[in-house]
Amino acid sequence: MTTSTHTSAPPVEAVGLVKSLGSGDSRVPVLCGLDLEVGAGEVVALLGPNGAGKTTTVRILSTLTRPDGGTARVGGFDVATQGRRVREIISLTGQYAAVDDKLTGRENLTMMGRLAHHRRRAVDDRVDELLIAFDLSDAADRLVATYSGGMRRRLDLAAGLLDRPVVLFLDEPTTGLDPRSRQMLWQVIDDVVAQGTAVLLTTQYLEEADRLADRVALISGGRIGTSGTPDDLKRRVGEAALEFVVPTAAEAAALARDLNGFGPSVQATTVRIPTDRSLSHTRAVLDAVEHSTVTVDAWELRSPTLDDVFLASTGRPAVPVTGKEVAA
Ligand SMILES: Nc1ncnc2c1ncn2[C@@H]1O[C@H](COP(=O)(O)OP(=O)(O)O)[C@@H](O)[C@H]1O
Ligand SMILES: [Mg+2]
Repeated sequence: MTTSTHTSAPPVEAVGLVKSLGSGDSRVPVLCGLDLEVGAGEVVALLGPNGAGKTTTVRILSTLTRPDGGTARVGGFDVATQGRRVREIISLTGQYAAVDDKLTGRENLTMMGRLAHHRRRAVDDRVDELLIAFDLSDAADRLVATYSGGMRRRLDLAAGLLDRPVVLFLDEPTTGLDPRSRQMLWQVIDDVVAQGTAVLLTTQYLEEADRLADRVALISGGRIGTSGTPDDLKRRVGEAALEFVVPTAAEAAALARDLNGFGPSVQATTVRIPTDRSLSHTRAVLDAVEHSTVTVDAWELRSPTLDDVFLASTGRPAVPVTGKEVAA
């Protein structure tokens, strides 16, 4: 059961997407000229706080809603005029698992395979393969009603992979999952990517983007504000620094004077020295700290994170996800 469509067009190519939502006076612009491309075999993370327009973008690309302006092609097909062709080559998995509680895991997958008009033998083989890959073999013949949130999410993702899609859309795939379930889902996504599927992922978790994405695109003000590899983006917000924590602000000032040649900056009781991370520079700074009369409580080499990128590009921190975690 493989997808028969082969095309050299980029899996996802969106130009100038515009979309407003709501009606009358409460109509709000959500996308204001969003450009986005996902290359073959690439994983792109669309990152943004709640309400940034991530789901709207995914809904347009998966033909669930039409843009007011701009164009988008998926696998070379126009989402506005060739929706049926697009739907044949994509898979969409969201935060809310769309599996049937009253069936077992195996029955869910088998039924979806049969509905897609595949031969029973081929469906059975593929279902076995997916149950193993998604670590659901032991639970395969239990009703889905008894599954945990993490298991449902994996089953839902498996259902989307009965036919290997050209593009997989994952809208906040791990929101609400506990860390262990999140790790398992990430592994499964790695396997899907290894088989050549392009992935457009939305997330509020910077850690998730860092872990999965080849490229990160930050939505801000209805368009892509910043985009690049996670490392590129981190480099852009600034260099690494050696940070020394001392007991008092007066001692921080004293230590900064002793480290004057290294370009120190002081914030409360922390002294910060930018570094190129080289051994020689680090050693020189540590020597100078050792020779200072100030006693250091703690120190670390701090590298910028995607959180810093987010803050720098949107002027606000990533919104923490609230709500109950779903157990594995
Ligand atoms: N049906 C709707 N009617 C009016 N506004 C909506 C509707 N759906 C979403 N919105 C608004 O559009 C904005 C973007 O929503 P969405 O794409 O879901 O963001 P995200 O997925 O990044 O959280 C939000 O401000 C949201 O409140
Ligand atoms: Mg959303």
